[in-house]
Amino acid sequence: MGQRFAGKGVLVTGAAGGIGLSVVQRFRAEGARVAVADRDVSAVEADAHLPGDLLEAAYADGLPQAALDALGRLDIVINNAGVITRGPVTETTDADWALSVGVNIEAPFRISRAAIPLLAAAGGGAIVNTASCWGLRPGPNHAIYCMTKAALASLTQCMGMDHAHLGVRVNAVAPNEVNTPMLRTGFAKRGFDPDTAVAELGKTVPLGRVAEPQDIADVILFLASDDARYMCGSIVEVNGGKPVK
Ligand SMILES: NC(=O)c1ccc[n+]([C@@H]2O[C@H](COP(=O)([O-])OP(=O)(O)OC[C@H]3O[C@@H](n4cnc5c(N)ncnc54)[C@H](O)[C@@H]3O)[C@@H](O)[C@H]2O)c1
Repeated sequence: MGQRFAGKGVLVTGAAGGIGLSVVQRFRAEGARVAVADRDVSAVEADAHLPGDLLEAAYADGLPQAALDALGRLDIVINNAGVITRGPVTETTDADWALSVGVNIEAPFRISRAAIPLLAAAGGGAIVNTASCWGLRPGPNHAIYCMTKAALASLTQCMGMDHAHLGVRVNAVAPNEVNTPMLRTGFAKRGFDPDTAVAELGKTVPLGRVAEPQDIADVILFLASDDARYMCGSIVEVNGGKPVK
């Protein structure tokens, strides 16, 4: 494996989850030093551990500076944490709304707002957000999830334009279904065996399988790397050819 990120400082949120863990492992394999943020990061091998709840504004506001302090430099921020709530608007509780908006929109906003000046002061950097295909086009019965991911995609496009002049590139990856705890616990909650359900779902994907976390992590690392040096405000779909329907 190459060393595209030798000496770089990286902050990853949702680092204990399926995609996040893969992102952390790949950055470290390519020479980066990584600060990990999640509610519980005790099981994640990393260079700095910054556990906390992204619904707490002060924690989200302070994460980029905390990562900079812990690593000695900050070049890349991956806003990857996310939650999914199910159902149409008529079945959405106030708690679902607050959780989804808080984790999927407000936290990336707070972290990006704090990170951009730090990245700019260091001569430039990259932010990569984890959006979703289910925000670019509506999926059924996930109204608030889709809305929050649409908002994150829009925020990415806006920040990508607004901060490019500082050398700060902001882009997003938009996966369709990925074989992570988020997908598997959803199946389990609905009474399906996750392995069987993931295999069945794979048959609906033109490439023949559901994405694995590494399939998404590789694109996140590309967007964070110099290979994507002219990309600002892009939303890259990673969907195995499967449309949202
Ligand atoms: N799995 C999929 O099918 C899929 C598809 C498209 C997009 N995504 C997006 O990918 C990203 C990563 O999800 P994943 O599939 O790896 O799921 P995951 O559930 O394995 O990981 C999400 C992580 O975010 C963390 N998190 C959630 N709320 C938090 C909070 N309040 N404070 C701190 N951390 C919090 C969780 O603890 C978890 O470790 C999410 O933004 C998700 O919306 C996932």
